[in-house]
Amino acid sequence: MKKTVRDIDVKDKKVIVRCDFNVPLKDDVITDDTRIRAAIPTIEYLLQNGSAVILMSHLGRPEGRADMKYTLEPVARRLSELLGRDIIFASSPAVVDEGVREKAAELRAGEVMLLENVRFRKEETKNGAEFAKELASLADIFVNDAFGTAHRAHASTAGIADYLPAVSGFLIEKEIRFLGDAVEDPKRPFVAIMGGAKVGDKISVIENLLKKVDTLIIGGGMAYTFYKALGYEIGTSILDEKSVELAGDLLKKAEKAGVRMLIPVDVVCGKEFKNDTDTAVFKSSEMPQDMMGLDIGPATVELYKKEIFSAKTVVWNGPMGVFEMENFARGTYEIAEALSQSDAVTIIGGGDSAAAVESFGLADKMTHISTGGGASLEFLEGKELPGVAVLEDK
Ligand code: 3PG
Repeated sequence: MKKTVRDIDVKDKKVIVRCDFNVPLKDDVITDDTRIRAAIPTIEYLLQNGSAVILMSHLGRPEGRADMKYTLEPVARRLSELLGRDIIFASSPAVVDEGVREKAAELRAGEVMLLENVRFRKEETKNGAEFAKELASLADIFVNDAFGTAHRAHASTAGIADYLPAVSGFLIEKEIRFLGDAVEDPKRPFVAIMGGAKVGDKISVIENLLKKVDTLIIGGGMAYTFYKALGYEIGTSILDEKSVELAGDLLKKAEKAGVRMLIPVDVVCGKEFKNDTDTAVFKSSEMPQDMMGLDIGPATVELYKKEIFSAKTVVWNGPMGVFEMENFARGTYEIAEALSQSDAVTIIGGGDSAAAVESFGLADKMTHISTGGGASLEFLEGKELPGVAVLEDK
């Protein structure tokens, strides 16, 4: 168990908090502020308990240059609205410089300051000790609350902990509790639903989950790689060619482990990869040569819903089809809806499945939606996340 802000004295301390404010933007407007809202409880706690709060985050991948396309200025504005108070935005392209140090030194209890995008410095992603020291020099305590970036060993997520007492914020605490309990101490039956395009990206997650679950459900583009392993015709569907053998191995491993592994029994196919293409439903073993699978079919939806309704814990990562196109969103929607109606503990991995659940307006019906895409996958793989490993134990 890691220490949290509750376990240390934060009164009259300067606390530097790593958040994951890597939010989607369109024309400088934040299109989904979930990650900013998720950081509020820790910030409010620190302010109420007498800290001066310095926030830091990355946004996008500016690759070590001060590219203003990735400035955190829009985040500062949104954060100020959400907190209902002024935010001091330390807008230095160097992230830390003399002016920023002065502002940090003058910061009083109850005030909040946000640093510029830490990835404006090339040392950030290299976990450079000098940059970590510069960040640490601004504060007395380091709090990591950036679950979405906890799988990265960077200066602001890991290196800084070499120079300051380091504890977790409430978001990291919550993510680890929900994801950890679901995997390590699940109420059974425990069902995992894996989707998305490539099996290759999720092999280690599937392997780890095969040791834990009662049923593993496959959907999305990766299903066609499993079909190939079974010798089915997949037409022009997406294929992760390098992973065909691995998919076959996973099917064998599941059998050996006594895990039921379900792959779609029917498929919604399209002629072309676009919404208004000709569509038809085929049994999985009867796909035509000139069509591609773009969603799970209605018989599969029914089969998977039955599994969801008999489960006590469900972890879902990856969409069932190309849900961004209306005509191929049904499978993903039906799974999300079933999860929203089930009594099971429902945990949604971040990234695409979280975006799907949000877009269907079902987010508040789930037990937990992770704010981490890559981070939640690495967690489900059973890996220790570097941004968590550096925090002090209780
Ligand atoms: C994410 O969106 O998954 C995190 O913010 C990490 O971003 P990264 O993949 O650019 O490190």
